[in-house]
Amino acid sequence: MCAVNSEGLTSKSTTAEPSRQNRRSFLGALLAVGSAVVGALLSVPLVRFALFPLIRQTTDTKKSPVGSVSEFASLAEPAMRTIQIEQIDGWRKTVSEKAVYITKDRRDQLCVLSSICPHLGCTVPWNKEKKQFICPCHGGTFSVDGSRVSGPSQRGMDTLETSVEDGKLLVRFEYFRQLVSDKEVVG
Ligand code: FES
Repeated sequence: MCAVNSEGLTSKSTTAEPSRQNRRSFLGALLAVGSAVVGALLSVPLVRFALFPLIRQTTDTKKSPVGSVSEFASLAEPAMRTIQIEQIDGWRKTVSEKAVYITKDRRDQLCVLSSICPHLGCTVPWNKEKKQFICPCHGGTFSVDGSRVSGPSQRGMDTLETSVEDGKLLVRFEYFRQLVSDKEVVG
């Protein structure tokens, strides 16, 4: 009697053990998958946060007002204005001032020129006597509409994108590659 009970117990214990182990390993796998899914979901905002400065356009500049259009209607020579530009570089926002010239193109239309020399980046002043823009660094000269006249620059002064809103002239300041003949935005 005693031996039969003992055998019975022994055989019951050997069949229950593998099924308990299977259950444990299944729960372990489920927990691992759950943790991986939760981890992946939580990492999405972190990855977006880390990559944001790379994804975002680094040179997102707003248009700046330069004055009312009527103010420049009877422009006899280029008028210099200092504008404030707000630049976003990754997480950093900077506000700086830049000089621009409001002048007229060959069709007598208002246009705005960057004061940065396309040769090596010096600020180009308007010379009233010579009626030309003359760069103080290497003597590059440009006509009233910014076209290249002489000197080492491979192109004329850079025109900036403009628009008119409520009678105000707005300009989007941009930086262009120097030492090249074609205008190419770099920031
Ligand atoms: S920087 Fe203007 S001519 Fe060289």
